[in-house]
Amino acid sequence: MKVLHDIDETRRAIRDQQQSGRTVGLVPTMGALHEGHLSLIRTARAQSDAVAVTIFVNPLQFGPNEDLAAYPESMEDDLANCEVEGVSVVFAPSEKTMYPGDAVTKIHVRRLTEGLCGGRRPGHFDGVATGVAKLFQIIPADKAFFGEKDYQQLVVIRQMVQDLNIPIEIVACPTVREPDGLAMSSRNAFLSPHERSQAVLLSK
Ligand code: PAF
Repeated sequence: MKVLHDIDETRRAIRDQQQSGRTVGLVPTMGALHEGHLSLIRTARAQSDAVAVTIFVNPLQFGPNEDLAAYPESMEDDLANCEVEGVSVVFAPSEKTMYPGDAVTKIHVRRLTEGLCGGRRPGHFDGVATGVAKLFQIIPADKAFFGEKDYQQLVVIRQMVQDLNIPIEIVACPTVREPDGLAMSSRNAFLSPHERSQAVLLSK
């Protein structure tokens, strides 16, 4: 498994796979991998010859009062899990690599981002769309795998790919849940015992 931090090196690694006739499946993540992510990776493996995983906590999709600084991180475990799952390439860029500071372009998907999570987190989906579009340029995979847990995100990315003619098939994967029904999420680690017991009511 190659662990890469540089954009050109990553492009080369993906190109090598594709030039040798292998299809590439991409699983974009922000790290702190759990069973939900691993199921995306397993689906990607089943549907592609090689799997690329990105690990990048995308600052663009966090609002000023959100949990960017506290976002859970477990790079060592994440890499070990990727290795076990047979991932070929991990792209784990620094913030400076992804956003060198001179960019003036952002992607805004209208209408679909106005309600639900988008209504409460202004700019969140611009950050997601811009970050994911950049990942799609760096890793022009055949398919990219997203969880249905973040359903609005899935719909926004599908629309962006259609509108911008990005030749990557978006594959939706079912939500993976804890035994009591709570959807797995890296942010579940933030829940107090009381919040954890309330959160399960969502699935009920
Ligand atoms: O769902 C996530 O983890 C993120 O929103 C994504 C798709 C990796 C973009 O940063």
